Formats: sequence, C-alpha cells, structure tokens
Amino acid sequence: MKKVIVMLVVALLAAVLFAQGKSETKKQPENAQKTAVQQNEGGKKMPKKLVAYFSASGTTARVAKELAEAAKADLYEIRPETKYTSNDLDWRDKSSRSSVEMADKKSRPKLADKNAKIADYDVIFIGFPIWWYVAPHIINTFLENYDFSGKKVVVFATSGGSGFGNTVKELQPSAPKATIIEGKMMNGRQDKAELAKWAEQF
Ligand SMILES: Cc1cc2nc3c(=O)[nH]c(=O)nc-3n(C[C@H](O)[C@H](O)[C@H](O)COP(=O)(O)O)c2cc1C
Repeated sequence: MKKVIVMLVVALLAAVLFAQGKSETKKQPENAQKTAVQQNEGGKKMPKKLVAYFSASGTTARVAKELAEAAKADLYEIRPETKYTSNDLDWRDKSSRSSVEMADKKSRPKLADKNAKIADYDVIFIGFPIWWYVAPHIINTFLENYDFSGKKVVVFATSGGSGFGNTVKELQPSAPKATIIEGKMMNGRQDKAELAKWAEQF
C-alpha cells in the first residue's frame, strides 16, 4: 500500500513538472518578442547617409571627405564625363566651357557614371563649388538621373565668398519630390565635432 502511495505521489509530481515545463516553452517566444520590441523602442533608427560631391579643383572634395567622416556617411564623387580643364573654369572668359554652360539654364553636362546607390540612403548631402551664384549644372544632371522621391537632400558648398543665393530654387525642379534643404557653406577650416553635430540633425 505504501509503495502504491509513493508511486502515485511520484507520478503526480512528474505530471506537475511536465505541465510546468510545457507552459514555460510556450511562454518563451512571447518573452523573446517583448525583448525585440523593447530594443526597437530603446534604440533610435539611424538614417543612412551619403555625401555626394562635385569638385572641379579640389576644395569641395576636401570638405566633402571631412563631412563624410564626421557624419559617418558614405562618400560618392559626382564626376563629369569630360573633366574641366583650367581654361574651362575661366570665369572671366565668356566663351569658356563653364561660362557657356552656366549662361544656359538648360545645359546638362554629362556624368561619367551613374553608380550612386541613392535608393539605399535616407539623407543625401550634396556638395559643390558655387558657380555664378548657384550650383554648377552638373548637379541638376545628377538630380535628374536618379529617383530622389521622398529623400532628404542637404546641400553644402564652397565659394570665393558668395552664399547660396538661388541655389535651392534652381535645383528643386530637377528633383521635385525631394526635400532640398539649404545646408552649410563650408569655406575655411571645419571643426570635426561641430560638423558631426550639425550633420546629426538630419
Ligand atoms: C566658373 C566658376 C564660377 C565661380 N563663381 C563663383 C561665384 O559666383 N561666387 C563665388 O563666391 N565663387 C565663385 N567661384 C569660386 C569657387 O566657388 C570656389 O573657388 C570653390 O571653392 C571651388 O571649389 P572646387 O575646388 O571644389 O571646384 C567660381 C569658380 C568658377 C570656376
């Protein structure tokens, strides 16, 4: 009789333990999902950033590299199919290539490649030298050759002293569904920490 009681108790205990074990395995996925949700709530989703730049004589290239490093962004050079020579850049000569292109609002200098992975990014910083108070027309070509719909485009530039003027107004029709923001003139030395802080807002 004692033996039977002991066996019954053992069987009962085993049943209780089995039932407990089962309910715990059931709970596990629920717990795992909760952790994932918490992680999503806690960790901010970082926008993916690209710095794309055109530079005819190196000044904008230098600041673009500094910005990409500070903003932890990828870097892409917008290259013209035909490089600009120093004669091409002579703004005092009305018949130089840059003068002719900039006098014609419809001119669209060709790109050397179309390899920028715009679709992969949320924020695209676009840098260039100011030419005749606005962006060189190759920036319009660049905007027109990709789908910038829904993208945040932040422009930055170097110059001999001019500001952005009508730059954004003249670029917007080339990417009508993008939000183009007048960013920063980057003449002179740029502080890396300040650049990082500035880039973080976008
Ligand atoms: C064709 C041409 C037009 C320019 N027009 C202006 C201008 O309107 N205002 C200005 O401040 N600087 C002007 N600049 C000076 C450039 O914006 C400046 O030197 C710039 O930093 C050059 O950048 P990069 O070396 O990246 O090409 C012009 C330069 C060139 C070649």
